[in-house]
Amino acid sequence: MVAIAFYSITGQTKKFVVKTGLEAHEIDDAWPQYDMGEDYILITPSYQDFMMDSLVDFLNYKDNKKHLVGIIGCGNRNFNDLFAQTAKKLSVTLKVPILYLMEFSGTDKDVKNVRKIVRGLAKGQSTKEVQKPKEMRGNISFLSDYR
Ligand SMILES: Cc1cc2nc3c(=O)[nH]c(=O)nc-3n(C[C@H](O)[C@H](O)[C@H](O)COP(=O)(O)O)c2cc1C
Repeated sequence: MVAIAFYSITGQTKKFVVKTGLEAHEIDDAWPQYDMGEDYILITPSYQDFMMDSLVDFLNYKDNKKHLVGIIGCGNRNFNDLFAQTAKKLSVTLKVPILYLMEFSGTDKDVKNVRKIVRGLAKGQSTKEVQKPKEMRGNISFLSDYR
């Protein structure tokens, strides 16, 4: 199994993770410093940078940045160019690929697709082999805290 970490503020991402049935570490606002200790993928919603302090603390803890191999971004397409901005900023800043993008707690198809991606990675597939989302438009800059 490939390890998974996720962050959720209003519960949508958590709902998605539960639907996949995949085992995952939830980044906790009360104590974000958790050592993943192995390669993992991150599932993250998108908010303005100032709302992502716990995620920043988690990534900056021990080797968590080094072990991050892929990102799954959640958001809301009504945000247009800022759709999945957190995932996109993290991807650019940490040079880690976005493996999948989706909205809210995901559709049945999203659940199926993400399970397939995770299954592939668990079997030793490289993140380079995962078909990337085409939806990468938008003027995305660096997230300063992650540099
Ligand atoms: C205050 C606020 C700001 C948000 N900003 C963005 C955004 O910039 N881009 C985006 O794609 N979605 C944005 N969203 C939508 C959330 O990322 C989306 O609803 C997500 O599923 C929430 O996940 P969570 O419930 O796990 O926190 C925002 C939502 C709120 C309430």
